[in-house]
Amino acid sequence: MAKNEVILIIGAKGQIGTELTVALRNKYGKDAVIATDLLEPNSSLLKDGPYMMLNVMEKLAIENIVTRYKVTTIYHLAAVLSASGEKKPSHAWSINMLGLMNVLDVAKIFGLKVFWPSSIAVFGPTSPKILCPQHTVTEPTTVYGITKFAGEQLCNYYHEQYGVDVRSLRYPGLISYTAKPGGGTTDYAVDIFHQALEKGNYTCFLKEETTLPMMYMADAVRAALELMEVPADRVKIRTAYNISAMSFSPKNLAAAINKHLPDFIMHYKPDERQKIADSWPRSIEFITATSDWGWQPQYDLHEMVADMLKHISKNAAC
Ligand SMILES: NC(=O)c1ccc[n+]([C@@H]2O[C@H](COP(=O)([O-])OP(=O)(O)OC[C@H]3O[C@@H](n4cnc5c(N)ncnc54)[C@H](O)[C@@H]3O)[C@@H](O)[C@H]2O)c1
Repeated sequence: MAKNEVILIIGAKGQIGTELTVALRNKYGKDAVIATDLLEPNSSLLKDGPYMMLNVMEKLAIENIVTRYKVTTIYHLAAVLSASGEKKPSHAWSINMLGLMNVLDVAKIFGLKVFWPSSIAVFGPTSPKILCPQHTVTEPTTVYGITKFAGEQLCNYYHEQYGVDVRSLRYPGLISYTAKPGGGTTDYAVDIFHQALEKGNYTCFLKEETTLPMMYMADAVRAALELMEVPADRVKIRTAYNISAMSFSPKNLAAAINKHLPDFIMHYKPDERQKIADSWPRSIEFITATSDWGWQPQYDLHEMVADMLKHISKNAAC
């Protein structure tokens, strides 16, 4: 990305946006990154640079910001996530699909580069469970997964038909300490840290053996930056790249936390999110991302747990 580029982030107040905004501002300068969301900013992180309200459903409002600030790149993060999507399928369809189409249309008109995250939710019960490959059966059973699958095809279509430089990653469950997760099936892997430190116990909404692919936010943000910086001819996949870093079950995570907090106790009370988790692969193969643009994860389960506990304890003490 050239130094004089201007970045628009849509959905900047969410779990990824909170950290991606800071990383992009550190890299490209505060004034080069315009953070936007449906919601008012309440965090000093997001106030530390341009921030405005924007609804991704309003295409004209996106166009106005793009024109006014000479935006060159959009990071489109606004979405309804897996567990929330099952409660309001038509709302999830409309935000996830029409929002993406608005962004792609604006990118087509103004010649913008786009980052849009997909998800391992594109996979379903008929996909391979272990080391699920880049190209395989994708028959998702959640409305969220269906929107991610259709969204990937839409990105590829806009690239093929109109030359839009859109890039995407199939993120696994993301773990972070800055912002709370936004209604996904892997939210337990964030909530557990706060409850472990505050109360010494946690009741998990998935069964103890439910292994899922996961990634620490530092790796997730770095992956987005690396994919966006690579020359366009190295981005061979214009649907979305498989990436991953680790796979673990709630039982594995509780055991890793117990190494730091020996009195921590985990209880299990599976709810409707169990069905969603059961439909997803347990691990993801990411050889194509590694060979095309060099993806390598840095954090494993134990490094992630140590870092999460350190930061959440520090924030609680402030
Ligand atoms: N967090 C994860 O574990 C994970 C995993 C895979 C993929 N993803 C994808 O990454 C993207 C970002 O995820 P996240 O976890 O940060 O989500 P999040 O729910 O934490 O944040 C989404 C943000 O979008 C905003 N938003 C919602 N509707 C909007 C609208 N109409 N206009 C503008 N903003 C709107 C919300 O206010 C929120 O701040 C999504 O596409 C999601 O599907 C996330």
